Amino acid sequence: MSSARGIPKLVNYEIVEKIGEGGMGAVYRATDKLGQIRAVKVIHPELAHDTGLRERFTNEGKTLAAIGRHPNITALWGLLEENNYLFIVMDYVEGEDVERKLKRNGALSVAEALPLFSQILSAIAYAHQQGIIHRDVKPSNILIESSGQIRVMDFGIARIKGGPRSTKVGVPGTPEYMAPELFAEQTQGANELTDIYALGVTLYEMLTAALPFESSATDTNAAYVAIAQKHLKGKPRRPSELVPGLDKEVERVIMKAIAKEPKDRFQTVPEFSQAIDQQVGRLDISAAGQAQPGGAAARGTMVETPLPGTPVVGGGESAFPLWAVAAAWAVAAGIGFLLGRQLP
Ligand SMILES: Nc1ncnc2c1ncn2[C@@H]1O[C@H](COP(=O)(O)OP(=O)(O)OP(=O)(O)O)[C@@H](O)[C@H]1O
Ligand SMILES: [Mg+2]
Repeated sequence: MSSARGIPKLVNYEIVEKIGEGGMGAVYRATDKLGQIRAVKVIHPELAHDTGLRERFTNEGKTLAAIGRHPNITALWGLLEENNYLFIVMDYVEGEDVERKLKRNGALSVAEALPLFSQILSAIAYAHQQGIIHRDVKPSNILIESSGQIRVMDFGIARIKGGPRSTKVGVPGTPEYMAPELFAEQTQGANELTDIYALGVTLYEMLTAALPFESSATDTNAAYVAIAQKHLKGKPRRPSELVPGLDKEVERVIMKAIAKEPKDRFQTVPEFSQAIDQQVGRLDISAAGQAQPGGAAARGTMVETPLPGTPVVGGGESAFPLWAVAAAWAVAAGIGFLLGRQLP
C-alpha cells in the first residue's frame, strides 16, 4: 500500500526520507516504534518473489545477523514483510558511500585510501571467518562515517544483476566487480577468492576513480556479456596509466588481487591485509590517512528484535542469537513489555 507520493507505508516503521536506490529497491531512513533510526531497503515487488534472496536469509540469516557485531559492518536486523512489502532492516549509517565520494571528489590519494581500505579488509576478513562470503563488494556498499569509520553493508544479499539468464544461470553480484571464474559455464559460485577479486577492483577504483573493465553498451545483457569477456580475457589498464605517479608497489598489490587465476591472488583476506599494512608502513601513512612529512606517500599521488510485523526469517528467538542483545537494550530503555509481545 503506497502513499500518494509512492513512499511505502509500513506498519512498524515510519519512513522519514529516501536515501538511495539500488538494483533491489529503494533505501529509506525510517524510525521504528521505539523511535530508533534504521535504514529500510524495500525490495522491488517484482523481486520480492526471488526465492534465492529469501532462501539466503533463511539459510544464512543467523550468521548474517551475527556478523553485524563487527565495528566495520552495518548490522542487519532482519527481513520483514508488512503490508505486502518485503524489506530489509539495517543500521542507519550517517555518512557517504565510497561511490558517491569518488564521484564527488575523484580518486583518493594512496594515503587516504589505504587506511580506509584496511578497515574494509577487516570487515570482510571477519565475515569470512564466520563463513559468510560478501558476494557484492563494491564502493556503493561501503559507507564512510564522518569520523572516518568504515561500515560495509549488504553482506550475502546480492542478487543476480543483468546477464543472459536464458542461456545460463547467473550468480549473484555486480558484473564490474565479479571474478572471471564466476562467469564460467561451470562456475562453483562465490567464495573467498571472488571476494578478494572484488576487493581488488574496489581498491583500483578508489585510487583511480575508474574501473578495470566496463562496457558502454546500454542493453543490460550486452553489457554483461562484454564485461564478462573482459574479466575473462581482457588486460586491465594499469592504475599508474590512469594516475601518473601512482606508487608502483601499491599497484602491484592491486594487480595481484585482480589476477585472472584465483591461485595468483592473495589466498586469504588476512594475507591481503598484510600486504596493505606493509605499504602503509613503507609509505609512513598515519591511521588518519595522512602521509607523514617526507614519507613516500606524500609524493605519490541481524539482529533486530524485529518489532511486531511478519518476520519472513528469524521470527523467533532461536533464529537470531542477538535477540538477547536487543532485548537487553530494550529492557534498559524500560520497554520490556514490547519485547514480550514479540517473543513466541
Ligand atoms: N544502512 C544504510 N545506511 C545509510 N545509507 C544507506 C544504507 N543502505 C544503503 N544506503 C544508501 O543507499 C544507497 C543505495 O543502496 P543499495 O544497496 O540499495 O544500492 P547499491 O549498493 O547501489 O546497489 P545494489 O542494489 O547492487 O546493492 C547506498 O549506496 C547508500 O548511499
Ligand atoms: Mg548496496
